[in-house]
Amino acid sequence: MADTHKVRFEPVGIEIEADEDETVLDAAFRQGVMLIHGCKEGQCSACKSFLLDGDLQMGRYSTFALPDFEKDEGYVLLCRSHVYSDTEIELVNYDEDMIRSGLPVTTVQTEVAQLTDLTHDISLVRLKLPADSGFRFHPGQYVDITIPGTDEHRSFSMANLSAAEGMLESRSARAMSRMIGLMEATWSPTFWSTS
Ligand code: FES
Repeated sequence: MADTHKVRFEPVGIEIEADEDETVLDAAFRQGVMLIHGCKEGQCSACKSFLLDGDLQMGRYSTFALPDFEKDEGYVLLCRSHVYSDTEIELVNYDEDMIRSGLPVTTVQTEVAQLTDLTHDISLVRLKLPADSGFRFHPGQYVDITIPGTDEHRSFSMANLSAAEGMLESRSARAMSRMIGLMEATWSPTFWSTS
C-alpha cells in the first residue's frame, strides 16, 4: 500500500493528506478542497503552483502548460504531481472562498426511479438516493455513474436542487439514458455519485 504524506497549501494554510499513488489535485478533491483546475491532464496550466518544500514528482505533461524554465524555477502542475514526503506548496491561482466551499467526494449506491424520454434526443433520469446518505452537491457539480465490475462510466450534470427529495435528476442525451436502462436490465446497477 502506498504511503501517505501531508500537503500544506500556502498562503491559505490548508492541509490535506495525499497518497503516493494519487495526484495532489485528486487528493484535494477527495477531501473537499476545491483547487482551481482545468483539463486535469497536464495540458492547460490552470493548476500551476509553486513547490516550496518536499519530494514531488510529476507524470507526463505538456511543456506548453509548464515550460522547462518554469519547472526549473520550482513550478509544478498539481494534476500531474505525486508527493513522496510531507510537502508545502504555494498556490498561484486560488480563490479562498471557493477552496473552502468544497464537498468531499462521496460514493453512494442509487436506484433508477424514472427514465422518461422528453424529446427525440433528451431524456429525464431520476436516481433515488439511499435514505440518510447525506449526499449533497453544489450547482455546477456533476456525478460520475459507473457500471460495477467494468471501467465504463459517464458524467452527468444535475438538473435539480441539491439532492432535493433524496433524488438526483438529470436531463441527458437519450443515448446515455438508454445506457442506464441497459445497466438496470443487465447489471442491477450501482451508481457511484461523485460530488
Ligand atoms: S488542470 Fe490543466 S494542467 Fe493541471
